[in-house]
Amino acid sequence: MSEPIEISEQSVGQAVEVALAAIAAAQDSTQLKAVRSAHLAESSALARLNASMRTVPNEQKAAAGKLVGQARARVNQAFSAREAEIVEAEDARRLAEEAVDVTALASRWRPGARHPLNLLQERIADVFVGMGWEVAEGPELESEWYNFDALNFDEDHPARAMQDTFFVEPADAHLVLRTHTSPVQLRALLAGELPVYRVAPGRVYRTDELDATHTPVFHQIEGIAVDKGLTMAHLRGTLDHFVKAMFGDEATVRLRPNYFPFTEPSAELDLWHPTFSQGPRWIEWGGCGMVNPNVLRSAGIDPDEYSGFAFGVGVERALMFRNDVKDMHDMVEGDIRFSQQFGMVV
Ligand code: DAH
Repeated sequence: MSEPIEISEQSVGQAVEVALAAIAAAQDSTQLKAVRSAHLAESSALARLNASMRTVPNEQKAAAGKLVGQARARVNQAFSAREAEIVEAEDARRLAEEAVDVTALASRWRPGARHPLNLLQERIADVFVGMGWEVAEGPELESEWYNFDALNFDEDHPARAMQDTFFVEPADAHLVLRTHTSPVQLRALLAGELPVYRVAPGRVYRTDELDATHTPVFHQIEGIAVDKGLTMAHLRGTLDHFVKAMFGDEATVRLRPNYFPFTEPSAELDLWHPTFSQGPRWIEWGGCGMVNPNVLRSAGIDPDEYSGFAFGVGVERALMFRNDVKDMHDMVEGDIRFSQQFGMVV
């Protein structure tokens, strides 16, 4: 039992004052709990004053009892009032925090989106698969031989400089990041039995700066057909069907003479785009021609027995004029909002 304290107006008043101040200062139920053990519980000043009643002489007991009793009642009452306030505030806060707005729009799970360049490549390949062609692939890290030599680019042929090449070290490994998908022509000829009808979509690299119309990494689709008796008419007919499937029945192609080391004759491939956003017009799209006999020879094929045609078109360029994408940055930045506009259909 602790030491009795003298019961006086002053000692009781002070205990009350301290307790009331602590009660008023409590901000939440945790603090209030601490206040209860400090100022209302067994060891508190008021409890000890109450316990000291036993030492009060009998004639003063009534007055002291009243003093202590009223003090305790006041403190208890203040405590209950503060407790009620805090409980109410905490309940209100919890209700607000845990409220469920049943009228809110559901936050939708966002599935990713396939890149329109991939969708477009697949669509182009599908047109050819529909004609019985196969889809081929080749490595992006390509040997110089496939990328240039076997395609009839001489060692110091100026045409080698037509394309700005990323050469890969060590130099004596003779590796490049392929500058076009044409090396797949050779790979297709070396890998398969004749006849060959293949398209090869894929990534290619050139040392261009990224701007609205260039990117150092882009995509092409290459096509090669080698069979007995193939002529330029087959090339034209194939391309014509291809562009109609991609751009509508009014679309057609125009071939303008050009030079590529791996085709002879070679042509620039223009497309008549009937639904172009700024009105129907001719658009340069790629190159094509009859496979150069030297290329056939590189693959061990007798050019007197077989002939072939080939073409290559740019996929980014197609996305630009077909879907009215004006800036190449949109295609390379990987912002899903760009891809999502295309959904799954390009
Ligand atoms: N490889 C050429 C380029 O990237 C495009 C090309 C031209 C491909 C003529 C061909 C072709 O297959 O026959 O510029």
